[in-house]
Amino acid sequence: MTGLIPKPLKMTEKGGYSEFGKNSKIYWDEALRKGADFLAREILGAEIIDFSSEDANIRVVTDKTVAQEGYAVECADGKLIVKASSFTGVFYAVQTLRQLVFFTPQTKADRIRIPNVKIEDRPRFAHRGLLFDEARYFFGKQNIKRILDLMAMYKLNVLHWHLTDDTGWRVEIKKYPLLTEIGSKRKDSSVGGWRNGKLMGKHHEGFYTQEDIREIVAYAQERGIMIIPEIDMPAHFAAAMAGYNYLGCREIPCEVHWFFGGNIPIDMGWKDWNRSACPGKETTYEFIFGVIDEIVELFPAPYFHIGGDEAPKDEWKKCPECQKKMKENNLKDVEDLQGYFNNRIAEYLESKNKRLIVWNEALSAGNLSKNVVGQYWTPTYDKNVKKHTKNGGQVIISKHQAFYFDMGYNQYPLKNTYKFEPVGKMIDKKQEDSILGLEGALWTEWISDMEKAEMQLFPRLQALAEVAWIPKGKRSFTDFLERLHRNNEILDTLKVNYAEDSVSMPKGLLKRKKELKLWYDADQHREVRLNREEKGKK
Ligand code: ACM
Ligand code: ZN
Repeated sequence: MTGLIPKPLKMTEKGGYSEFGKNSKIYWDEALRKGADFLAREILGAEIIDFSSEDANIRVVTDKTVAQEGYAVECADGKLIVKASSFTGVFYAVQTLRQLVFFTPQTKADRIRIPNVKIEDRPRFAHRGLLFDEARYFFGKQNIKRILDLMAMYKLNVLHWHLTDDTGWRVEIKKYPLLTEIGSKRKDSSVGGWRNGKLMGKHHEGFYTQEDIREIVAYAQERGIMIIPEIDMPAHFAAAMAGYNYLGCREIPCEVHWFFGGNIPIDMGWKDWNRSACPGKETTYEFIFGVIDEIVELFPAPYFHIGGDEAPKDEWKKCPECQKKMKENNLKDVEDLQGYFNNRIAEYLESKNKRLIVWNEALSAGNLSKNVVGQYWTPTYDKNVKKHTKNGGQVIISKHQAFYFDMGYNQYPLKNTYKFEPVGKMIDKKQEDSILGLEGALWTEWISDMEKAEMQLFPRLQALAEVAWIPKGKRSFTDFLERLHRNNEILDTLKVNYAEDSVSMPKGLLKRKKELKLWYDADQHREVRLNREEKGKK
């Protein structure tokens, strides 16, 4: 029994081990040379070995019948064969082998033991993602690289990077310097949870230069991870409007939000805190296209996320420019005005060979292009998602109860993530192919450091990795938990602050509505908060 996560689709353990060393001969197909180099470095700890021979004991060979991200591994009688149709397949074979080597007793310093196994593996979903929110808190290059390393180990391949929101603009845009000069800074931060009213009493700021972004994108690419940027609009746009007031329907002063969730301004009777960009003015589109021009140069991903959720529209109903735009385009209501806005952005992105992704609320517009990808997050059922998939549209699933990793484990225990199945109630079996994949979300309103981030992420990220990788019929929560205990030994060596069982699988769940509401109002995010030292770990 190994602690492998995600569990391979098919694996037979044959008993015993094969041994390899720095001098093991490697044969590779020229197309997989980079994969053979990677294997030599990661598994044998060897420099690139410029040796290729038919009688080698390690062989990395192309097999076009193996699925795009899949691989086959056979280890027996002192020989190791890795088959794949692309570098990504070899990359994932190496991730599996690294875990297998970790779980195998190693006795000789200069030899590596690999258990004798036969594995055939491939992912269920092509999109296996994690959203990381740096608009609430800026974590910086080293932390984002650590997250990318951990994602790669678990075969996740998409980082959805939430770079802008009301609370901060975190990416340099050369054409609009105030986006970071003003938009990346805020005077304070809410702490303790929704409706709590407390403040940290400290200024917060930070952003990535375009050079930083290029470095991080390249780092991700080396690990088979695509980064999808999210520039949130037309709502969650206060950090942009703070520097450029003309982006709103009314050109009035705007501040980068120094609170989360709006409780403080509501208490203060401050009416104008929650506003959207004006979709009536052409200058709004010019501005956004200018931002897009620079972002698409930084991120090679074929997707571009604009959020599109929770857009307040009262101002649009009174704005002469919005009203004029609606009349000119025969738009029946402000929902369709958001549809028009999204379609304008989608069209512009298509001219740059990018596909638009929006949160599912934005699918309620009657006029949205079906080429737009919807990301389903809302905790309640949304009929528009089914409608979108029936019309041939595609979706990414981030269902709140399973994939909102910022929520307390007391509200959403680990099994919510592991036992999640998108096909059935949410998406009809017939439309299964419309699901691009699954994505966990780490929003950071109440997470200002890596220790808390890691505790919210792990072990949920391991569960997500497995749900996205293997089909429902092949999953067992009990079996997963057994493997998880061993797998966490890897996290121990990396000093990852994962949540212990007592936290991630709490006994007394808040089932009754009233209890839940009381708790929600007080602080849904309170947790047993311990760092590694407090848990007695080195
Ligand atoms: C969201 O959580 N509003 C996408
Ligand atoms: Zn307007």
